[in-house]
Order: sequence, then structure tokens, then C-alpha cells
Amino acid sequence: MTLLVPYLILGSRGRMLNIGWLSLFGLSLILIGTAGLIWCIWQFFAEGRGTLAPVDPPKELVINGLYQIVRNPMYVSVLSILIGESLFFASTGILIEAAIFFAATHLFTVFYEEPYLKHQFGPIYENYQHTVGRWLPRLQAKRQAYDTFGSIGIYLLDEYLSPEECAALRDKITQYRREHGDVLVERDGGERPLKYSVIDGVKIKEHLPDVTGLYERVNELVNRISSLKLVPLENEQVSCNINIMGAGNTYRWHYDRNAVTAILYLNDIEGGETECYANYRISLGNARFSKFQRILDKALQPETIRKIFGRHRVVAPKAGRLLVMRGDRCLHSVRPVTGDEERINLIMSYDLPGTKFSVDERLDGYLYGHENADGSDPNYV
Ligand SMILES: [Fe+2]
Repeated sequence: MTLLVPYLILGSRGRMLNIGWLSLFGLSLILIGTAGLIWCIWQFFAEGRGTLAPVDPPKELVINGLYQIVRNPMYVSVLSILIGESLFFASTGILIEAAIFFAATHLFTVFYEEPYLKHQFGPIYENYQHTVGRWLPRLQAKRQAYDTFGSIGIYLLDEYLSPEECAALRDKITQYRREHGDVLVERDGGERPLKYSVIDGVKIKEHLPDVTGLYERVNELVNRISSLKLVPLENEQVSCNINIMGAGNTYRWHYDRNAVTAILYLNDIEGGETECYANYRISLGNARFSKFQRILDKALQPETIRKIFGRHRVVAPKAGRLLVMRGDRCLHSVRPVTGDEERINLIMSYDLPGTKFSVDERLDGYLYGHENADGSDPNYV
């Protein structure tokens, strides 16, 4: 493509080289393109565990190196070589070849390669597509968003805290519980009843400043990956909580009323996985706290429907693991804790500044006690 065709175009008689700035620019395009091509071939082999041959395509999606800048760096490299050659040899024929090559690869990627990759790698590719440009670099490409927050609504980061930091926090929580106790929240409910103990945000602010510091730090990360300017919820009681679940405890299927929720797991335990259907909700926008939204959510909640239409994710608790999700879009629940060890995690809630929920008028915003005004679900008020 970059050797034989140009050779045929130029003919065996060759050409007089035009040694001006244009030919030097052409030469640098050839060198840059060649280096890019070699880099991409290496990445296909090293990262994608495959080759350029159609019989042995990459087994992993290649998204690092030059693939962070544009989605088709290999084709861009070939294009760079061809344009470089056309300038270097002052050949209109090679320039036409470059134009035909670009048109053909554009059609090929749009109508074949991209649908194939979407089918092969699913949401990971969709998010990559959303984040990185096909031919031109996006100046504000967000590398972290590869982890799928942008389009899928879930971001997972391991080792956000070290095992030592988690152990130190657990010790402080144990100490707090010994002195002040915690509140047990228990509600019946279908597939997975609600049962967990909680230390609420007001008490955290008063007694556990390390957790408050973490809540602020995670806020920065959440804003970076979401490109939103989110803030802690105004209602301090529910803004940042410590949830503790013992053996057999579960958390029902629900959406959060706030936009983004971050869950930081503080220990490795058996069971107690967060189960999630990413960006599953059909949101009614401004009417999302209405009865109609509740009816729609209920209709889409049965397991068979979830399995047909949802993108299922299961996240196991692991010390230091951080899960960030679009809480108001991702249907989520906690599977039963099966081991003896309690599941301990921080729940950090964020939303746009000034967002208010009518349930905030009541003290019992998250059904901590049994005296909730009408027993309604706080996620719909
Ligand atoms: Fe939630």
C-alpha cells in the first residue's frame, strides 16, 4: 500500500526529488507514519494478543498507546506515509491514492469494523468510541472514562485505598460502634429485603473526620470522570453513610434519588456483591420522582425483564475497591452476605448544587426509623 502502489504510480523511471521545505515536511510525515505503524503492530501483538492477520485478530480491545489519541492510528499512520510520499515525490497520483485509501477505510470502519467491535467487546467499546475520536484527536479525551462511566454509568477502581488504610478505617469504625452503637434499618420487601446497620453523615462528621476527608477526595474523582460539577448532598444525614451488613443481610433493588453514588468497600467478604444493571432506567426526566416513574420502574424490575434488557454487572466487595455509578440510572441491589464477616463500606452521594428532594424536609429521609410519614420509598420523593 505505501510501497508497491506508489512505486507503480511513479514508474520505474523515478522522479527528480524536490528538495524544498515541502519535501522535508513530506519526509517527516513518512517517518512519523512509519513509526506509528510499527508501534501499532507491536501493540496489536503485545496488548491485543493477536496480529494484523484476519485469522488471528486481537483477543483484547487495544485502547492504549496511540489508541488513546485516535481510534484508528494504524490507518492514520498509513495515510500520513502516503501524504508524505505525495509531497516528497511531488506526485498527484499518490495523493489520489491517499484520498481513495481514506474513503475506503472510512467506509470499512463505519460499516464493518465498528459494528463488529461493538458486538465483540460490548459496552467497553461503546465507551471507548464515545471518548476517543475516529480520525482526529479529541482534545479533552478522558482516559479514566474508558472504565465506562461516560456512557455506561459505572466506574470501577481497585486499590483506591491500601489494605492498611482500610484496616485503620475499620478500626476507627469499630471503636465508634463500641462507644455509640449504630442504627439498624430493616424493611420487608420481595426478592431482597432491606437490612443493614448505618452510621449517618451527621455522626460521621462529628466523630470520624477521616471519612469526611475521603468523601471530599472522592468528590474530586467523581467530577473528573463524570465531567460534572457535583457536590455532596445538602442533607448531611444521608450524604455520606457507613453501611454495615451482617450474615444474610441484603439490600433491595432500587435506584438512588441522587445523581451519582460512590461505594468504597473496606473489606473482602464472602457474598454481599453489589449487583447492578447499568444505565437501565428509562428516566422520565423532571417527572422521575412521580408515580408514573415508579410504575415504569416496577414494570422493568422483574428478573426476566432485567436479564433480557439489562447490562448486568456484579461487583464483589474488596478492601479499597471503589465503585462509582449513576445511582439514579443504574438499578442496583446487594446480594446476601454469606460469610461470618460483616460487610463494611462507605456510601457517598453526590448531586448537582442546589438539588433538593422533598423527603429532605423530614428527618427520616432514608427510612432509618419506622416513623417515616407515609412509608413511601424515599427514592420517589
Ligand atoms: Fe443505592
